[in-house]
Amino acid sequence: MTGKTDHDLRGDYGHMRADYTVDQDWPAYTPEEHALWRRLYARQAALVPRYACREFNEALAALDFGGAIPRFEVVNARLGPATRWTLVAVPGLLPDKVFFEHLANRRFPVTVWLRAPEEFDYIVEPDVFHDFFGHVPMLFDPVFADYLQAYGRGGIKAHELGAIEMIARLYWYTVEFGLIETPQGTRTYGAGILSSGGELPHCIESDEPNRIGFDLLRIMRTGYKIDTFQETYFVIRDFRELFEATSPDFTPYYAQLAGQEPHAPGAILAADRVLHRGRALAGKP
Ligand code: PHE
Ligand code: FE
Repeated sequence: MTGKTDHDLRGDYGHMRADYTVDQDWPAYTPEEHALWRRLYARQAALVPRYACREFNEALAALDFGGAIPRFEVVNARLGPATRWTLVAVPGLLPDKVFFEHLANRRFPVTVWLRAPEEFDYIVEPDVFHDFFGHVPMLFDPVFADYLQAYGRGGIKAHELGAIEMIARLYWYTVEFGLIETPQGTRTYGAGILSSGGELPHCIESDEPNRIGFDLLRIMRTGYKIDTFQETYFVIRDFRELFEATSPDFTPYYAQLAGQEPHAPGAILAADRVLHRGRALAGKP
């Protein structure tokens, strides 16, 4: 789930509460939808042992929701005691402010609808599979859980300061497409990757994309593409680094970044801690 203000949204926004939440209506899922869920789950579950971080894999194994589309309330009974987060059902993408308010209150919005069978490999908008498989296991990690709440609070502030673009880039390059260094090598904790059959191997094993050490201001100044594999991934050393680097007041950062041209998604800068230089750029100085 990411915040968005587009109007042409998929999903039924006609029956929601003021905070955009709905009832999951679990009995309404069809047998075909549960079967599609099992196929999606099986593909990703076979990949994550090699590519996902330990925190994700441990939570996924403990949750064991591969048999059917999960009931949010069943997971909530375990998530609450673990990290005080709650899943809330929503029709789809939310306005930025609504999305940030939920995160700031440790509520994670999960889209209720599942993609169509022909979208098995690729879908632009987040569906229940992306939101659930990609995001929910990470909510069980205490440090990441605190980061996401801090992000929500920061989002509300960014909204007031007109810095939505910058805070959105941070979400994109961490929560959705972040990589992490581990004793087993580079792994991912990003939901956009974890819920994608193609990008899981690509982000770790391909020599095409750049892999660059996490740098907060650099990220907030870097554009991104939403319809292709990422050209650059940013790599954290651990979740503490992410939490601590983002804990200062961003107000002066926004002032500093305002008016500066964004870097291209594939750019490499002199100050970057380059872990891997993408093949597309390998010949260039
Ligand atoms: N520290 C940030 C601020 O003052 C808030 C924030 C925390 C933003 C974590 C993103 C992630 O704006
Ligand atoms: Fe998401």
